[in-house]
Amino acid sequence: MIKLKNEKQIDGIRKSCKMLARVYNEIEKHIVPGITTKELDDVARELILSGGGRPAFLNYHGYPGSLCTSVNSVVIHGIPGSQKLKEGDVISLDLGIDLDGYLSDSARTIPVGKISDEAQKLLDVTKLCLKKGIEAAVAGNRVKDISKAVFAVADKHGYGVVREFCGHGVGLELHEDPQIPNYVGRGPNPRLKPGMTIAIEPMINLGLDDVFIHEDEWTVETVDKLISAHFEHTIAIFEDHTEILTQID
Ligand code: MF3
Ligand code: CO
Repeated sequence: MIKLKNEKQIDGIRKSCKMLARVYNEIEKHIVPGITTKELDDVARELILSGGGRPAFLNYHGYPGSLCTSVNSVVIHGIPGSQKLKEGDVISLDLGIDLDGYLSDSARTIPVGKISDEAQKLLDVTKLCLKKGIEAAVAGNRVKDISKAVFAVADKHGYGVVREFCGHGVGLELHEDPQIPNYVGRGPNPRLKPGMTIAIEPMINLGLDDVFIHEDEWTVETVDKLISAHFEHTIAIFEDHTEILTQID
């Protein structure tokens, strides 16, 4: 069941999303060679708690961190730990906040120091996938218009589009209906309506689309061990426009 939100609810979700964008700006300052992923998790958690929020991922189905820290060939759900970032790495961060019962969700892949042109292009294209997906996310369109737009950009560059994980409704819970795949499959294709708040999140691999899950039951990595990128925004659909909630300009 897709939950349409009223103005008051969207306002609450927006506040949660703006806090998330501010927290990200702070975390990004700490992305330097030598820092551990656990230290980044600590920064994220403390910023959220001091802002009066709750880290939405912490203990979600037993997830042990506040932040997902996925380095290089790790696609998503990397668990913060003793791994130190090094020059040339890319790190995908994924973070959600519960602020007064309103949920936000956003991800971004960040370069550590100077990265290769090949890696930078993957980041740029994945960001473009998200942008095109958001442009297709207008009232009257359908979920598969988003999926098609995201896939087309990645496919044009020969990148692998991860199929096992999808975007989703978000706002009153972390994961709500509908699912938003990054490829056009056989699933449901609901119409996009004013009041929908959704997270669009392309996960794009430099090489093959295939991924596997580690024994920790969280870490998702590319089978070919080539790098992966992930960008995600929470957005709200209105009758005459779509707002990117997890962005501050
Ligand atoms: N941020 C993920 C998503 O976009 C959810 C993370 S699951 C968690 O759907 F367990 F790590 F929290
Ligand atoms: Co998400």
